[in-house]
Amino acid sequence: MNNIFDALRESHEKQRLLMDALLKTSGDSKSRREFYAQLKQELQLHAEAEERNFYIPLIKKDSTIDMSRHGISEHHSIDKILAQIDETDFDSPAWLTHMKSLQHQVLHHLEEEEQHIFQMAGKVIGDEQKQDLAAKYQQEMGESVH
Ligand SMILES: [Fe+2]
Repeated sequence: MNNIFDALRESHEKQRLLMDALLKTSGDSKSRREFYAQLKQELQLHAEAEERNFYIPLIKKDSTIDMSRHGISEHHSIDKILAQIDETDFDSPAWLTHMKSLQHQVLHHLEEEEQHIFQMAGKVIGDEQKQDLAAKYQQEMGESVH
């Protein structure tokens, strides 16, 4: 049985791989459209499931309220860049510029979570809850529970 940190790291890794793959595509191609659809779905599903099964329990504790608000606000920044990409033609040079700024923002967010937020969270969430949250997170992401 894995814990919520393993489950979140697994999703983060998927996001990194999809962004790398997307930045190697060019023009209005099938691969660019498909990878982008996958990335967008992955980012949106993940943000909702992570807020519900990670940030909401943390926002209830005094020591982790500020970092939870910060993490959630970064999800909104990511949503805004996704909306910009949605409004841009796949073959426009601006598409790649927006995609690079999305990658920059997402990588910053994932690193902050993995390097800082997970450590703080580890101190306030009990072992049993870590597993319970992982199961709920994975269920919401549509994955089988390990
Ligand atoms: Fe996040």
